[in-house]
Amino acid sequence: AERTFVMVKPDGVQRGLIGEIISRFEERGLKLVGAKFTQISEELAHEHYGEHEGKPFFDGLVEFITAGPVMAMVWEGQDATRQVRTMMGATDPAESAPGTIRGDFGLDLGRNVIHGSDHADEGANVREIDLFFDEDELQDYERIDETWLYE
Ligand code: GTP
Ligand code: MG
Repeated sequence: AERTFVMVKPDGVQRGLIGEIISRFEERGLKLVGAKFTQISEELAHEHYGEHEGKPFFDGLVEFITAGPVMAMVWEGQDATRQVRTMMGATDPAESAPGTIRGDFGLDLGRNVIHGSDHADEGANVREIDLFFDEDELQDYERIDETWLYE
């Protein structure tokens, strides 16, 4: 099954949304295979958001993402990368549908609560998992409901 990298950003942590966000993925049927509560270094921020280097919002983005702890996670399931992006909603919460995480909990583009690997960027999920986790920090196990979750 596919794995994807997900992170509750510092604003989501500060606003007490870790549990709510984990619950949504868990109830959907996605399987948590890795989790790390950590503060991102400036160096890691530059690597993680390298695609945005040079853009006007880049410095602010790095400052924000390193400002407090984040909840970094790996979730596994059928089509996990795309499913997570759909549940997150549009990048700008102003455009996110109600029912999505950003549409329910965000208002501002620069404070959009959650990150998930880009489905359109092939290999982003693998790259980002590698950046945050060692292989031995990821768990291989079966959830008891898996036989009823998939055809
Ligand atoms: P991430 O999951 O954080 O990567 O968001 P995304 O993939 O939906 O969006 P993208 O990778 O394009 O942008 C990364 C982050 O930069 C976004 O989540 C926003 O917080 C921020 N960002 C993107 N575009 C802008 C912008 O035009 N202005 C500002 N202030 N922030 C932006
Ligand atoms: Mg992105």
